[in-house]
Order: sequence, then structure tokens, then C-alpha cells
Amino acid sequence: MWLAIAPQAQGRKLGQQLLQHLEQRAFQRPCQFIRLEVRQDNEAALTLYQRMGYQEVKFLESYYEDSEDGWRMQKMLGNS
Ligand SMILES: CC(C)(COP(=O)(O)OP(=O)(O)OC[C@H]1O[C@@H](n2cnc3c(N)ncnc32)[C@H](O)[C@@H]1OP(=O)(O)O)[C@@H](O)C(=O)NCCC(=O)NCCS
Repeated sequence: MWLAIAPQAQGRKLGQQLLQHLEQRAFQRPCQFIRLEVRQDNEAALTLYQRMGYQEVKFLESYYEDSEDGWRMQKMLGNS
């Protein structure tokens, strides 16, 4: 999955709402956590994920095609 909001619609909480919707759907299933990867230089996405409770669990050196580093982030959902 790739979370992306059209440039002209960014900054209107749509990304936050999409992620909240995804989390609600996952919470209704036997899903223990959500994991995602994000570029280290993607300040908008990193800030969004941090604010929504995702924690950096692994540094991904040269993870992307252009050698940019990334982070694997995770949020526990509390399901068993
Ligand atoms: C990252 C992305 C999904 C955010 O979606 P959005 O709808 O623009 O963001 P929202 O309006 O929901 O913002 C929610 C919070 O995220 C953070 N945020 C969003 N854009 C930000 C920016 N440009 N800089 C810093 N923080 C930002 C803020 O904390 C914001 O809350 P606030 O407005 O109260 O400060 C969007 O910028 C996007 O589609 N980017 C291009 C694709 C991409 O990088 N996807 C992620 C791949 S991992």
C-alpha cells in the first residue's frame, strides 16, 4: 500500500483520515500491528506517522532506489 494524497489536496487532514480508516479496518481483524516504511527525508509523512503513534523500529540504510535511507515504523493495535 502507498498512502498518497494529490498535491492540491494535501494539508486538509485527508492523509490522517485515510490512515485512521485503515487502522479501524485493521483493528476489526486479528491484526496485531501495522508496519510501514518511509523515507528519512519525507518530513510530512514522518511527522504524520509519529503524531499518529507510529514508532521507528528499524533504520533502513540505503533502502530506496536512490540510496536514501528510511525508517520502518510500527504501531501496535492491541489485538491478539
Ligand atoms: C504524507 C501525506 C500522505 C500527508 O497527507 P496530508 O493529507 O497532506 O496530511 P494531513 O493534512 O492529514 O496532515 C496531518 C498531520 O501530518 C503532518 N504533516 C502533514 N503535512 C506536513 C508537512 N508538509 N510538514 C510537516 N508535517 C506535516 C502534520 O502533523 C499534520 O497535522 P497538522 O496539520 O495538525 O500539523 C501527503 O503529504 C502525501 O501524499 N505525500 C506524498 C506521498 C507520500 O509521501 N506518501 C507517504 C509515503 S510513506
